Amino acid sequence: MDKFIIEGGERLKGKIGISGSKNAVLPLIAATILQKGTYTIGNVPRLKDVTTMMKLLDLLGGKCEWRGDHTISIDTTGVENHVAPYELVKKMRASVLVLGSLIGGIKKATVSYPGGCAIGERPIDLHLKGLSSLGCEVTIREGYVDVTAKKLRGGRITFDTVTVGGTENMLMASSLAKGETVIENAAREPEVVDLARMLKKMGAQIDGEGTPVIRIKGVGELTPCTYDVIGDRIEAGTFLAACGMTRGSIVLENCIPEHIKAVIDKLRETGMEITCDGNTIKASMSRKRPRAVDVKTLPYPGFPTDMQAQLMAAMTTSKGVSAITETIFENRMMHAAELRRMGADIRVVGNTAIVHGVESISGAKVMATDLRASASLIIAGLAAYGRTEVSRIYHIDRGYEHIEEKLQSLGARITRVKDENMGA
Ligand code: EPZ
Repeated sequence: MDKFIIEGGERLKGKIGISGSKNAVLPLIAATILQKGTYTIGNVPRLKDVTTMMKLLDLLGGKCEWRGDHTISIDTTGVENHVAPYELVKKMRASVLVLGSLIGGIKKATVSYPGGCAIGERPIDLHLKGLSSLGCEVTIREGYVDVTAKKLRGGRITFDTVTVGGTENMLMASSLAKGETVIENAAREPEVVDLARMLKKMGAQIDGEGTPVIRIKGVGELTPCTYDVIGDRIEAGTFLAACGMTRGSIVLENCIPEHIKAVIDKLRETGMEITCDGNTIKASMSRKRPRAVDVKTLPYPGFPTDMQAQLMAAMTTSKGVSAITETIFENRMMHAAELRRMGADIRVVGNTAIVHGVESISGAKVMATDLRASASLIIAGLAAYGRTEVSRIYHIDRGYEHIEEKLQSLGARITRVKDENMGA
């Protein structure tokens, strides 16, 4: 296993390109099962989760190959196997996204029931309720969920909670159902919209994506296509938080400012100067200490839960007191304990963290517990006095492409080394 060694104190300066979105490309890859044929997907980030999803598709009978740095070709002509096994699903919950495309494509799916993860129980009851509304038979046995659709027909679902994955599974399954489907309280995330866009390019009839009500008119068949993934809004937000933490000045390219409006507004509240021009974001803290701000995570277009840990890190040395409330996941504050070990003054009460800004924090040996918690520990280490060692960084490799190279190009002193204490 690897770890990062970070020598803190460098202000980030310079320009980097934002990679394609992890949370957009995973459903796009799954969607290729809907219609046998050959697809080309561009702007794909080189991430562990992408490789895992490509392996799952190969297991189902597809053929996924990298074509150059950031393009993959997918041939789903041979997809006949409908079982997503425990060994794979336990590595990546997003495997559950093949439920909707297998049901739409070959009318049956057996997917290992995803367990919880570090940040919460993360049930899929709403996914299954949605598929049942399309006439699917759902049974759970021996840790697997079996879904069959003798006759896939349009239905109607009102999600009790906004669910990104649930909305995505419904979009895929209903695109080939007979009749109209209505999804109410649908997720509005840009990644859901990106999936709808690719499905429409394949011939699906979808209206309302990006709003709380999406209507899908099922079609008889779809057409394979070529598609480019949107930029990763959470990667962009993560680098903006790192810029704030180090009082630096950076330029981000290949991003979509509109997709992180809530994050930009919040960081402007801390005193960061941010200007957006097309696909470029310029941000500068110009050596100022950020003001403390309050934030509450919400479904899009609210402040994203995937940016909560990174903002918490940036608030540890702010001026004032910040209340950070997590409303999406029940256990997404584990980074607080690790940040406290670096000298941060954080008290977690229920799902709110109260962060009293301190003058400075100090480097320490810390451990990553999940993808975004890892990002928050790296951000803290960039500004901490002395050395920070972040272990278990396999979490970070799931969602950030070449993060240490990008940070090094902005002047950070960060290196990846073997972690002799953590075995192979
Ligand atoms: C997606 O997860 C993202 N992952 C997550 O990003 C992100 O945090 C999350 O959406 C929220 O924005 C991918 O897109 C691959 P949900 P997803 O279904 O779809 C509850 C990251 O760091 N719920 O929107 O699994 C659930 O427990 C990851 O990149 C049910 O109760 O999230 C949670 O409290 C982490 N029943 C809330 O809804 C269900 O059937 C939101 O979950 C489904 C969800």
